[in-house]
Amino acid sequence: MSRYKIAWLPGDGIGVEVMEAARIVLDALQLDAEYIHGDIGWEFWCKEGDAFPARTIDLLGKVNAAMFGAITSKPVKAAESELDSSLRGKGLVYRSPIVRMRQMFDLYICLRPCKAYAGNPLNFKEGIDIVVFRENTEDLYAGVEFNPVPVELSEVLTRLSRPFAPFARLPNEHYAISCKVNTMKGSERIARAAFEFARNHKRRKVTIVHKANVVRATDGMFLEEAKRVAREYPDIATDDANVDAICMWLLKNPANYDVLVAPNLYGDIISDLAAQMVGGLGFGCSGNIGTSLAVFEPSHGSAPKYAGLYKVNPIATILAAKMMLDWLGETEKGLRVEAATAAVIREGKVCTYDMGGSAKTLDVARAIAERL
Ligand code: NAI
Ligand code: MG
Repeated sequence: MSRYKIAWLPGDGIGVEVMEAARIVLDALQLDAEYIHGDIGWEFWCKEGDAFPARTIDLLGKVNAAMFGAITSKPVKAAESELDSSLRGKGLVYRSPIVRMRQMFDLYICLRPCKAYAGNPLNFKEGIDIVVFRENTEDLYAGVEFNPVPVELSEVLTRLSRPFAPFARLPNEHYAISCKVNTMKGSERIARAAFEFARNHKRRKVTIVHKANVVRATDGMFLEEAKRVAREYPDIATDDANVDAICMWLLKNPANYDVLVAPNLYGDIISDLAAQMVGGLGFGCSGNIGTSLAVFEPSHGSAPKYAGLYKVNPIATILAAKMMLDWLGETEKGLRVEAATAAVIREGKVCTYDMGGSAKTLDVARAIAERL
């Protein structure tokens, strides 16, 4: 029996190609793992009315970790029109598998390392090495949304939130509400994950990202909880910054930042910004981490226009595989993957179109595998 069971979820479009590339690297490492394919993505929505079938959910309950490529998703109405005719009109609603996966398995950490590998022509500046910890289950993504707003809710709002009464007096279909829901537990545990990481990886500072001066209830609590955790880590420097300000400062002086911790939405935004500073979608990798399961993926989508061409950059997915190795405790193998990837980037000979080259997806993977 293999030491690890890994769910292998390629998904749609280029997801399939970058996962094939990551597998070349993992196979060359001879990780003692069994990779079990899981169905996920658009094809299953169209055929079965579920992009994340129950058998795949079962599989995730039985593995040590998962690798996920990318999926195509479309707005609710467009999704319904592509359903198999036998499934239409049954009230099936398309929901993003990755969001469901995060909530179902309580994958509360979204970890996004953004490192400028030397020699990458796409680096905004050299030396950037930022790690974003994004809360992954609550905040504006909690799914508490109303459009139109139910009468009961508008009545409560009219009663309770006097300063905002004007909107509550509008006809209910003239406004919409998406609730930002944050909990003490959710805020505390993402902060703790960031500080533990900082301590274990000899990082110097954790910056708490928020907008507590304006969004006082939720971000105020997030900031307070994170600061309380910070006091338990006197060996790590701490500061905090407004999310808008940090977007400016990150660009101006990225060297000032080390580990960032943020609620869900701000974390989503700053991690895309930080990923773009180190090469963009071909480099952005992400781990969705819970206590018993973690799912690793490139941050990009299925890029339908490149599907089947084997020309996109597999490095984000290969670095996601490196994160998986770390999570499994295979640190030495993880370091080998990172060093081999860094070598290929530095040499600049085998690179995909986004880096100015003409290498194919699997050529990059083979070049990395050869340098392990
Ligand atoms: P996308 O990330 O798929 O691609 C946007 C563009 O970025 C591509 O056309 C390409 O120019 C570039 N790109 C993406 N990955 C690249 C790579 N590895 N190497 C080089 N260039 C790369 O975003 P888009 O086109 O907005 O969405 C396509 C589909 O993917 C949509 O259905 C969307 O909903 C879905 N999506 C899925 C995600 C996921 O599975 N986690 C995340 C983002 C989008
Ligand atoms: Mg995003």
